[in-house]
Amino acid sequence: MNFIFTSQDECFMRRALELALLGQYTARPNPIVGAVLVNSLGQIIGEGAHLKSGEPHAEIHALKQAGELARGATCYVTLEPCSHTGKTGPCVDALIQAGVSKIIFAMRDPNPLVKNNSGLEKLTQAGIKISWGLLEQEARDLNPGFISRMERSKPYVRAKIAASLDGKTALSNGQSQWITSPESRLDVQTLRAKSDVIISGSGTVRLDNPSLNVREITGLQPVRIICNTSGDLFKNLENLNLYTTQELNKILNKPNFLIAHSNIYYQNHEQGLYFPDLKNNLKNLLNFCDEKNLNNILIEAGSIFTSAFLNQDLIDELWIYMAPCFLGSGARDMLNLPEILNLDQANRWKIKSIQLIGPDVRVVLTRS
Ligand SMILES: NC(=O)c1ccc[n+]([C@@H]2O[C@H](COP(=O)([O-])OP(=O)(O)OC[C@H]3O[C@@H](n4cnc5c(N)ncnc54)[C@H](OP(=O)(O)O)[C@@H]3O)[C@@H](O)[C@H]2O)c1
Ligand SMILES: [Zn+2]
Repeated sequence: MNFIFTSQDECFMRRALELALLGQYTARPNPIVGAVLVNSLGQIIGEGAHLKSGEPHAEIHALKQAGELARGATCYVTLEPCSHTGKTGPCVDALIQAGVSKIIFAMRDPNPLVKNNSGLEKLTQAGIKISWGLLEQEARDLNPGFISRMERSKPYVRAKIAASLDGKTALSNGQSQWITSPESRLDVQTLRAKSDVIISGSGTVRLDNPSLNVREITGLQPVRIICNTSGDLFKNLENLNLYTTQELNKILNKPNFLIAHSNIYYQNHEQGLYFPDLKNNLKNLLNFCDEKNLNNILIEAGSIFTSAFLNQDLIDELWIYMAPCFLGSGARDMLNLPEILNLDQANRWKIKSIQLIGPDVRVVLTRS
């Protein structure tokens, strides 16, 4: 369907997109959503964002703020209003009850539970004009993991790499702290804070003993999963910073530090995730995340593990932070990919964005 929108519509939808970001560190596992109510004079009379799972949706906050003024108003919302009863009542019913006359939403809900049009039919029957598709790509970009799970049953996977200009990510002795600037590291904190899960390899844990948690931002802590096929890290759990910084994850009802492994001896370990063939089948780990409503995955590992994910074609976006320095030929390469003998076989990506972050440059690459 092709709807026509005015520049004023676009302005209000941009405001709704901005509001959605208020929930970006806290709304998990729900999608982030923003809503704006506008009266016939073009004045904003209510605004809202979905901030936390189990709490009111964006439309409900906006309706509450507008009160009686919502009658006859237009609602701009970044996602199709829900019509199913989850932890809260359907927003479609609340919008009808409040008497809004028009609803413009940026994107259809990719949730198969909603796709059956029943919400739209209900709104139309109530005499509410509806249209969608305004700033749709911007709205999709708010919730890559949620959309990816709904459309492909796979979480959205980003891998972060901090490298020198000659593509090195650690010295030969393993030292890598720090190649990039404090500004880049703060940027990585925001990326972490938007992620449901951080995945790393045992090599990084042995060499760096990282905590991989969110420090400079207030929000939910991600689940940290370390892949360690032999499970030898279990012998030394208490000395790991991942262990001493762990807390309960409410989605999994487990500690937010887990070890994915292939050692049957640890099959029932409270902090273990057993996969018989983890080495060759990292997809099974992503399937686990999908089943548990974990939308956005961030890989922060060394070259061995990041390359394994890449070789199994499981990465959607590469976030490469490049510092203006050279580490020389002895240092470790960014990736260990198999040799190719024909340029047609090059592992090619598209540049999505390039940005200066302090003295470094951040390049975001995607497959499509
Ligand atoms: N510059 C950066 O962005 C950055 C980020 C992180 C780390 N680093 C640096 O990278 C270095 C460590 O890198 P690394 O390459 O040695 O270690 P790594 O990539 O972090 O971990 C590699 C280990 O992961 C385990 N693993 C589990 N499942 C695997 C699978 N499916 N495929 C491959 N490996 C799997 C293997 O050990 P098991 O036998 O235990 O399974 C493997 O040896 C450190 O110096 C660290 O400082 C740099
Ligand atoms: Zn809703």
